[in-house]
Amino acid sequence: MLLALSTWPEIEAWLKTSKTVVIPIGSNEQHGPTGLLGTDWLCPEIIAHEAGKAGELLVAPTFNIGMAQHHLAFPGTISLRPSTFQAAIHDWVSSLTRHGFERLYFLNGHGGNVASIEAAFSEIYAEWSFAEDRTPYALKLVNWWDLPGVNRLAFKLFPQGHGSHATPSEIAVTQAAYPDHIKKPNAPLEPRIAPTGPIRDALDYRARFPDGRIGSDPLLATPELGQQLIDAAVPALLADVAKFSAEAQP
Ligand code: NI
Repeated sequence: MLLALSTWPEIEAWLKTSKTVVIPIGSNEQHGPTGLLGTDWLCPEIIAHEAGKAGELLVAPTFNIGMAQHHLAFPGTISLRPSTFQAAIHDWVSSLTRHGFERLYFLNGHGGNVASIEAAFSEIYAEWSFAEDRTPYALKLVNWWDLPGVNRLAFKLFPQGHGSHATPSEIAVTQAAYPDHIKKPNAPLEPRIAPTGPIRDALDYRARFPDGRIGSDPLLATPELGQQLIDAAVPALLADVAKFSAEAQP
């Protein structure tokens, strides 16, 4: 069930049987010469929406702009600074918990978001800790590739050239869902497997990784392999969300 395609009475009714909501969260940023700018929000959205069809799950609108300052030297990237991103997460959490949601499960698609999301969670919990009060809800962050079994499958499908940005696995997931938007490079990828290195500011990034990729060969991606990853991620997400929903307060 998608929150955006529901009415408020439907959400009110949902809250009588479940206090859980899944929030796909990602980033809109360059993904090399062949990856879609939306890759990092599309992947968690694709998986969460499929899971919403396969099981009882309420999926919030996708939080599709994240912390991507290091990609800003590439056109099309949109970034929040870490402090803005954390403030926005705080407001999403305050809005949803105000209505009675008690389990907020963030399914993330961008490694660069992790530090800020965790910091936002700590800020939120800190308010309750200082007030010497129990937080009446729980927050969880899971990267889609860390769902049980998914990373193992990704490295089995792509034993070489998986890398860490513009990876064949994330691009394959978008190809499976959006086959009309599969892109071919204008020139051969040089080198075929991109370099690796540290991530700093935007100009440093562009100098180190001129076409945007890190350690990856995205041309290994196919829609069929992407579908395998989605098929592994969907039941893993349903099981993980069910476990989170059933968590008892100590
Ligand atoms: Ni990505």
